[in-house]
Amino acid sequence: MESIVRTEGLSKKYGSKQNEFYAISNINMEVKQGEFVAIVGKSGSGKSTLLHLLGGLDRPTSGKVYLNGKDIYGMKEDDLAIYRRRKIGFIFQAFNLVSSINVWENMVLPLGLDGKQVDETYMKEIIETLGLESKIHSLPNTLSGGQQQRVAIGRALSTKPDVILADEPTGNLDTKTSDEVISLLKLSAKKYGQTIIMITHDEDIAQIADRRLVIEDGKVVRE
Ligand SMILES: Nc1ncnc2c1ncn2[C@@H]1O[C@H](COP(=O)(O)OP(=O)(O)OP(=O)(O)O)[C@@H](O)[C@H]1O
Ligand SMILES: [Mg+2]
Repeated sequence: MESIVRTEGLSKKYGSKQNEFYAISNINMEVKQGEFVAIVGKSGSGKSTLLHLLGGLDRPTSGKVYLNGKDIYGMKEDDLAIYRRRKIGFIFQAFNLVSSINVWENMVLPLGLDGKQVDETYMKEIIETLGLESKIHSLPNTLSGGQQQRVAIGRALSTKPDVILADEPTGNLDTKTSDEVISLLKLSAKKYGQTIIMITHDEDIAQIADRRLVIEDGKVVRE
């Protein structure tokens, strides 16, 4: 299997002078295409910082991130933005939905930004699995937290991204919905050859991943 995400000596320093510390420290990791990797570790260990770096949302202090063999921080800012939109689906705990447009419009928004056609069959399948059929015309602020999270997941999947980066995506969901959402992500990943890198505190989810990376003080301490 090809490696889709790879880092070399990846580090991120925060603070200055005596407050300075490394949130991410010399991480060398590799994720193969189609893998489902769970990132686990204590609060403050650097999980979100790492995920942001992998997705081109931040800049490393030193080191490199390769996506599909491309050195993403060697790209121009505008090119990186386009690359990110096409290749990566982000799912965060704060869903960042656009409040003035409905659920359907939110989900297909990334496609519109890229001038791409909506795959109606695919979107319908996602919406059904996410249990949002009755909500597609609703505005985000009329939905529960868990429903909003499901919309954010649908939005991340709409572009059929190569890599799905998820930061505690089921943190706001009950166990049953959480299980369904994870199943959907796995199914989608399998069907479209997608790679999932997911931060989770949920031991059950970490168990069904292909591999677990344990982060401690900004380092990968166990695989
Ligand atoms: N923008 C920032 N400026 C300064 N320090 C930061 C910044 N972002 C994160 N940190 C610090 O870097 C460390 C790692 O933070 P990070 O958010 O990656 O942790 P985490 O593992 O995701 O934790 P959690 O499980 O609570 O979400 C923490 O000590 C945090 O306070
Ligand atoms: Mg975090």
